[in-house]
Amino acid sequence: MRVTSLLPALLAAIPAVTARGTLGLALGNQNADSSCKATADYEADFDALKSVTTVVRTYSASNCNTAQNIIPAAKAKGFKVVLGVWPDYDQSFDEDFNALKQYVPGNEDVISGITVGSECLYRKSLSAQQLLSRIQQVQNQFPSITVGTVDSWNKFADGTADPIVQGGVTYFLANGFAYWQDQKIDNATATYFDDMSRAKNHIKQVAGANADKIRFGNGETGWPTDGGSDYGAAKAGTKNAEQFFQSGVCGMLAWNIDVFYFEAFDESWKPDSTGDNGQKMDEKHWGLFTANRQPKFNMTCPK
Ligand SMILES: *[C@@H]1O[C@H](CO)[C@@H](O)[C@H](O)[C@H]1NC(C)=O
Ligand SMILES: *[C@@H]1O[C@H](CO)[C@@H](O)[C@H](O)[C@H]1NC(C)=O
Repeated sequence: MRVTSLLPALLAAIPAVTARGTLGLALGNQNADSSCKATADYEADFDALKSVTTVVRTYSASNCNTAQNIIPAAKAKGFKVVLGVWPDYDQSFDEDFNALKQYVPGNEDVISGITVGSECLYRKSLSAQQLLSRIQQVQNQFPSITVGTVDSWNKFADGTADPIVQGGVTYFLANGFAYWQDQKIDNATATYFDDMSRAKNHIKQVAGANADKIRFGNGETGWPTDGGSDYGAAKAGTKNAEQFFQSGVCGMLAWNIDVFYFEAFDESWKPDSTGDNGQKMDEKHWGLFTANRQPKFNMTCPK
């Protein structure tokens, strides 16, 4: 959908939409010094986050004993967790699946879902058919929990994920970063809405009779703050991150789409990566909060 046709429709739709999406946060499983988080670390995280949200998503159930350590913290602090499975390799899948089998039973009340895969299709590490069978294996083990997958918005929009939708999976989180699409901050919200509407519309269309059962949300979005790297026209900075949050994220929630913001806290231990532009990219400044758990800007959405 072109943004020119989307925005008037969106603005017209807002007064009619009474339900709001839920904000959640992507949460890493390592402390600033790179040690694995223990239950007490997750409890301190949750104390810092509770004014903003009570939902977080994680990426691997076994790595750093995430499921084992986070579930008691979620219970103690009234949080809900989306647990992750890394299905790209047999070993990572087996380890995560075994951790889920060990720690989920009896704790379903704090598990808001399980995602199998994080951008697997984007990285081409599994085919859609292979990913579908991994998702079904997890779904069969946990019939009372919503199980789905997370991928880049364009892998949903371009049909790559169709076999998964047609295979009966109903939980999809689409990642969308206007920043990585080289957008100026002033066009970031339009780009983000365009990404999410394309992904959602395509999934609903392909789902056919299942369309009403689809639970669609945004799996990751965000903007780096002061100290982060620029990416073409996308300039890092705390002011820009605040503008993207207030306009893009708050707008998406008002549109009744669940959003997981990437990410909760700066991950100071993370090494630089290399961007698609070949330049060194800082990975340490994506948090809504600093590594010391201090908020960086106003996260209250406009009424
Ligand atoms: C602004 O975003 C829209 C929606 O994604 C896109 O179609 C348009 O090309 C973007 N403008 C620029 C200058 O990149
Ligand atoms: C935070 O942002 C909201 C929404 O824009 C606004 O209503 C509120 O006054 C702001 N709070 C502060 C302390 O600036």
